[in-house]
Amino acid sequence: MITGKYPNLRLRRSRKYAWSRRLVQENSLSYSDLILPIFLIEGKNRKESIKSMPNVYRYSVDKLQSVVTKAIKKGIPMVALFPHTQTKKKDEYGTEALNPDNLVCRAIKFIKKKFKNKIGIMCDVALDPYTSHGHDGLLKKRKILNDETLEILTKQAVLQAKIGCDVIAPSDMMDGRIGKIRKALDKNDLKDVQILSYAVKFSSSFYGPFRDAVGSKKLLKGDKKTYQMDFRNSNESLREVSLDIKEGADMIMVKPGMPYLDIIKKVKDNFKIPVFAYQVSGEYSLIMNGINKKLIEKESIKESLISFKRAGASSIVTYFADQIDL
Ligand code: PBG
Repeated sequence: MITGKYPNLRLRRSRKYAWSRRLVQENSLSYSDLILPIFLIEGKNRKESIKSMPNVYRYSVDKLQSVVTKAIKKGIPMVALFPHTQTKKKDEYGTEALNPDNLVCRAIKFIKKKFKNKIGIMCDVALDPYTSHGHDGLLKKRKILNDETLEILTKQAVLQAKIGCDVIAPSDMMDGRIGKIRKALDKNDLKDVQILSYAVKFSSSFYGPFRDAVGSKKLLKGDKKTYQMDFRNSNESLREVSLDIKEGADMIMVKPGMPYLDIIKKVKDNFKIPVFAYQVSGEYSLIMNGINKKLIEKESIKESLISFKRAGASSIVTYFADQIDL
């Protein structure tokens, strides 16, 4: 398919100047490609640092004014909200997930009121920020219950959407949740609310700093291997994605990011659906902690983000979204 031979062909010719490198550039990165995750805490005027994630903070709802203004100014299309729920509000059923006045709901209301539709809001559907055992679903006799969990997740999704969440993002990995949630949204006159399914979510060690950020790390009993995917698998991701598309997913998330570029490409090639990538907390911390020379750090961040674009991602959830200069 590709022909040519040295010395007639010299690929270095097009690399000679910055302008010509720009002309043959196959991929690019802009703020339009990025989604900014925001961690929330109770209280007023609070900005709290997170030990395992340098330069990332938890914000009280009132602080969202400046955080979101900054994101809009940069042209970031969407924020993803994650609550750090107080331990006293957690129980084994994740009851707080259905409280219309919980942290996430208050943040949605705040952003929608102040910024209308200038920026999209995406929220996780899963119980782990709310359960005393740190799991995404209901735990009974050391098992995560699937169908019983769906009942709660469906209500959580409808609640978030009613309040103003634009993109519902189930990250729980229960079977059948997309179909159930789509049906419930439609029934509640929320037909236009989008679903971004974390269809391919691996049981990964790269989530550690995130669990610390939302306060579920110390609580987590066991691991999530009975519902999140085995990182040895690849074809299984196609089965997950095809199910979720049939059930009504508008977009697909692959998570974590960099260790799974092959999966992003495979899903994109097979389904031609918008695929989003999540550069998760462990990847973030690795880059942040590993390289501390400012300039190289900046370039390595871009390099890591472009890899997702090359693999076929439409958009990337990244904690670098509000830190990099593009
Ligand atoms: C939980 C959830 C997790 C992340 C996003 N939503 C962690 C987990 O499944 O334990 C991880 C994000 C990150 O590590 O940055 N439903």
